[in-house]
Amino acid sequence: MLMSTEGKSRVVTTYRLSEMKARGEKISMLTAYDYSMARILDAAGIDVILVGDSAANVMAGHVTTVPMTLNNMIYHAQSVVRGVERALVVVDLPFGAYQGNSKEALASAIRIMKEAEAHAVKVEGGVEILESVNRILSAGIPVMGHLGLTPQSINKFGTYTVRAREREEAEKLERDAKLLEEAGCFAVVLEKIPAPLAARVASQLSIPVIGIGAGNGVDGQVLVVHDMLGINNEFSPRFLRRYANLYDEMKGAFEQYITDVKSGDFPNESEQYAE
Ligand code: KIV
Repeated sequence: MLMSTEGKSRVVTTYRLSEMKARGEKISMLTAYDYSMARILDAAGIDVILVGDSAANVMAGHVTTVPMTLNNMIYHAQSVVRGVERALVVVDLPFGAYQGNSKEALASAIRIMKEAEAHAVKVEGGVEILESVNRILSAGIPVMGHLGLTPQSINKFGTYTVRAREREEAEKLERDAKLLEEAGCFAVVLEKIPAPLAARVASQLSIPVIGIGAGNGVDGQVLVVHDMLGINNEFSPRFLRRYANLYDEMKGAFEQYITDVKSGDFPNESEQYAE
């Protein structure tokens, strides 16, 4: 039986995102890697949940996203999808799962769609990965692009500094964004580039442009959830707004628990079972 999304008018689809761009409604996007976080984000009304390969950093403690595997992305995506009723769930294809071999790219994307029942995939790069993008799209899998600072290429860049400040790189980024739109991508993420360039790209494209460190002239914003909640207190770039300081709050709660256990205060009478 074909399940219809009719009647579930609040469910976010790629089509709804294009409508939001057309009427100038900003798109909200945050990362999640597990069921509990995904449930809270979905209940809060987030439009898009990105199962980012930033899981390599904030969940697994790697310095870069390069070590992330397809199997681990599928595990995170499965956990997130189980917690979501409304948001669009986009999953990063990890480094090595799509570059250089479009057949492998399609096979990786199909695994994400089938095994995690995700809604779309995200890939980093422009003309260099166009063949892979085309092949994934040819199977009816929605693709989100990602340009600017593309963390999977950090070993090529050698720095996490702002990208596309030079004219040549900015012009290539504009060409790449256009290519991704023409190929059929439903949206593009622009990371850590000058705000005027990002605004120009957003005005040139009819698909939504989601920024992270790309200013306010784009169609939506994305942040890594551990950064905006202040769970990860080791990362403070200029573009990051912290909405909570959970590192200190959680540490405080853990310290209180330890004190209560050591002193015998926990559990008390009402926290135990009588015979
Ligand atoms: O992996 C990730 O979290 C991302 C965002 C930074 C856009 O790609």
